[in-house]
Amino acid sequence: METIRLARVMRETAIKEKRNGKSIGFVPTMGALHEGHLSLLRTARAENDIVVASIFVNPTQFSPGEDFDRYPRSVGDDLEKLEGLADLVFLPEKETMYPPDFSTRVEIEGMSGAMCGPFRPGHFQGVATVVLKLFNIVQPSRAYFGQKDYQQAAIIKRMARDLDLPLEVIVCPTVRESGGLALSSRNAYLKPEERKAAAALYRALQAGAKALKEGQREAGLIGGIMRKALSEEPLVSQVQYISAYDAETLKELVIIEKNNVVLAGAVVVGTTRLIDNLLVNDLK
Ligand code: PAJ
Repeated sequence: METIRLARVMRETAIKEKRNGKSIGFVPTMGALHEGHLSLLRTARAENDIVVASIFVNPTQFSPGEDFDRYPRSVGDDLEKLEGLADLVFLPEKETMYPPDFSTRVEIEGMSGAMCGPFRPGHFQGVATVVLKLFNIVQPSRAYFGQKDYQQAAIIKRMARDLDLPLEVIVCPTVRESGGLALSSRNAYLKPEERKAAAALYRALQAGAKALKEGQREAGLIGGIMRKALSEEPLVSQVQYISAYDAETLKELVIIEKNNVVLAGAVVVGTTRLIDNLLVNDLK
């Protein structure tokens, strides 16, 4: 496994591999790697000749007051975990990605204002901008994202389609703890009792999915069922949103008429913000 810090070297290496007919699978991350990240790498490994992972805690996707400074950083451990799963690890410095006069932003209109949008101003613009830069540097044939960050994956797919990016965006299933809590680097912030309480978000989404599958079609009532489930867990201190959305456009639904629905929510447990979602596409 080789570590590359310079964008120019990463790009030249990728171009050379592709010229030799090799496909490149790419998994962008912010590090603090867990089984969720590793599952993406395994899928990339199975589907491509060369696997590239990147580790970069991207400052532009953190809003002022968010956890950029205390975001967990563990590059040494991460590199050990990547051994055998990635061929190349791209580890850029902040100055490599954002020179002092950097002034370009990628905005996916509409979709970035839905769901998490109002609670994280500028977040998806920061994500789209860094991911487009990473795509241009790594030149992937396929790029892998987790369903855990549903809105992010949907936005990247839309960007790839709108801007004719020559790659395939692949969304992989959410990896969970046995109690249902979705793995996340931010789970490290949770105290033991909060970690137990955090599974309430998954239980709430499951309760919503059950009602939907049993024939409930009023999104407001499904939202009510999910909010009630969350209210039973006292350590959930805030529900930012929890509702039913069109899985493609991310528009909030009122009456659920079509099959492609994502139930998604964001809550605060203690002081930690958590998100999760369930895709429901087997409605009769
Ligand atoms: P990060 O939070 O490190 O996540 C990297 C990738 O791992 C994302 O595609 C995310 O959806 C996926 N992932 C996280 N938890 C997962 C889980 N429990 N199951 C499956 N996949 C999971 O997402 C980012 O970084 C950044 O926004 C990034 C795309 C790297 C841009 O900076």
